[in-house]
Amino acid sequence: MSQAPSSGNVQSNLHETRFFPPSAEFSKQAHIKSIAEYEALHARSIAQPEAFWAEKAADCFWFKKWDKVLEWNSPDAKWFVGGKTNLCHNAVDRQVEEGHGDLVALLWEGEPMPDGRPEVRRLTYKDLQRETSKCANMLKSLGVKKGDVVTIYMPMVPELAIALLSCARIGAVHSVIFGGFSAQAIKDRVEDGQSKIVITADGGWRRGKVVALKDAVDEALKAGSEAANLVTSVVVVNRCNTNPPMVAGRDQAWDALMAKASDVCPCEQLDSEDLAFVLYTSGSTGKPKGIMHAVGGYMVHTAMTAKLSFDLKPGDVYWCTADIGWITGHSYMIYGVLPNKVTSIMYEGAPDAPAQDRFWDIIERHRVTKFYTAPTAIRTFMKWGRELVDKHDLSSLRVLGTVGEPINPEAWIWYNEVVGHGRCPIVDTWWQTETGGHMLTPLPGATTTTPGSCTRPMLGIDMAVVDETGREVPVNEGGILVCRKPWPSMLRGVFGNRERFIETYWSKVPGMYTAGDGARKDENGNFWIMGRIDDIIIVAGHNIGTMEVESGLVSHPAVAEAAVVGYPHDVKGNALAAFCILRRAIPTGAEGEALKKEILGHVRKELGPTSVPDKIFFTEALPKTRSGKIMRRLLKDVVVGKAVGQDVSTLDDRGILDKLAVAVQG
Ligand code: WTA
Repeated sequence: MSQAPSSGNVQSNLHETRFFPPSAEFSKQAHIKSIAEYEALHARSIAQPEAFWAEKAADCFWFKKWDKVLEWNSPDAKWFVGGKTNLCHNAVDRQVEEGHGDLVALLWEGEPMPDGRPEVRRLTYKDLQRETSKCANMLKSLGVKKGDVVTIYMPMVPELAIALLSCARIGAVHSVIFGGFSAQAIKDRVEDGQSKIVITADGGWRRGKVVALKDAVDEALKAGSEAANLVTSVVVVNRCNTNPPMVAGRDQAWDALMAKASDVCPCEQLDSEDLAFVLYTSGSTGKPKGIMHAVGGYMVHTAMTAKLSFDLKPGDVYWCTADIGWITGHSYMIYGVLPNKVTSIMYEGAPDAPAQDRFWDIIERHRVTKFYTAPTAIRTFMKWGRELVDKHDLSSLRVLGTVGEPINPEAWIWYNEVVGHGRCPIVDTWWQTETGGHMLTPLPGATTTTPGSCTRPMLGIDMAVVDETGREVPVNEGGILVCRKPWPSMLRGVFGNRERFIETYWSKVPGMYTAGDGARKDENGNFWIMGRIDDIIIVAGHNIGTMEVESGLVSHPAVAEAAVVGYPHDVKGNALAAFCILRRAIPTGAEGEALKKEILGHVRKELGPTSVPDKIFFTEALPKTRSGKIMRRLLKDVVVGKAVGQDVSTLDDRGILDKLAVAVQG
């Protein structure tokens, strides 16, 4: 079931005919103002990539200019060779030096205080320069040196952003672990990265409750483990006043150390190719991989893409709702965003606490101009109803973005109408932890968008849909999504595992980076992501993208969310099973059967007979990773009745598998 899609014979009937050009008023003020301008720039960037990237690199800060733009020994790239720079200097110090020190860099909204008032902290660029200098000196005092791996396991508080940037300041390599992960995840990553320092907090607030973090660190570092022997210092931020037990000689309070640290610490002059950070992929498949990113290329690519995709201008109030534990938080809350002299919003807690309109309330109060979130969040908001959005003045919004999974057209249209009032270009950005930054995305002033498509390649990026030999497949046929040329923020490897790097990304199509996604390109040159290659299922000889079937299901008014998986079938090779969350209570008996029939009939009408699932189940919830990706691997096992004895460490709600098994048997 995990074979690459064969070319030809592909089922791609999801045909979208709605098109949304940017308004003349928006285009006029945008960095890139028309599709013709984009096309000319893109063509030149592919024909002369080194000249193009040199120009973009010149927009960033360098202590010493590079000698050579690119050294390419496939699959190993070195960018801006010989250049000296620093990610923190480019994000923070440079803004202060250029006179923007008093602009708010980070605006943090904590969980509301007991009296319901939102807790807000504002850090200007000057504040960030001072705090990151102190924190960098604190790390040095604990023995951290350039190249050392610092493990960060924190809630969404400003100290988290400060910790990242402080590592960057001195050339330490951060490895951020999402605060929802378990002790096992901490232990594995500490050991994989041979990390000696952990920065954490007593806990974080979520829906009025403390999510304890320090406990998990203690558990991960239980005496006897390799991790326990490695780690010499644990720095603990006090967020919730829970006073967790401190291990003498190992644990120290953040506040006490910061109070002692000097606020003078110039940014280290790092080689462009020095390792900036390691981030473990969210693991919807297999064991997590430590993705490595290098300083110079990551800096150039993230700063440029943040500017172009969101049309950032100095003074914008930009809000990315991701957690910093994901690549989206690294690139588009911190490193790519701050160089553009904007205010980046960060929030702690949950979208529905204190109330289900929290996001719209934050947008209204802070006059957010650019908003970036995930399709899974948008579908949730749809379920909660538009009244919650309509209550708020969202007239400050200018651009809306999505990331993380394909957005189904229904959700796209809702986002556009209900949140954007039809005024705000929507940028559906396709990229990965491995790519570091945006690869396929509309440019808001230039691209005519169409719901469900991430449209065109970013400038400098050579994306294509090919077969196993690397030849482009015909228009509208499914194939393997690749990048044919190196780009600055490409991953430099998988930490400690060269074979896995080559095998996963460089062995499927000769000489090209394979993303692991299936896609098609339509007659307008727009890309449509069909899902992970593993999620493309050959049913009776047709390649079916499960994501398209899911979109078909969700376009039925009764279905709020759907997941489709394949399972072995005697006649067809594979058949499809659908799991649907309804917008209403689950009907039983004849009424349930009738609704199932109606939904399948709807899919048949929308997508054709080959795409109709053989089985359909109603469920209250779906198994998801903490970053909101559906774990289809587990659903497959539920369908075939396989005992669930697997690695579910990244699963959000473990009890859900039992419920699903019951739904399938019932
Ligand atoms: C999926 C998140 C469709 C895709 C930045 C990719 C998307 C994986 C989109 C990477 C999108 C991300 N449309 N699919 N706009 N964005 N994906 O590493 O399957 O957490 O390979 O990076 O998410 O997930 P990751």
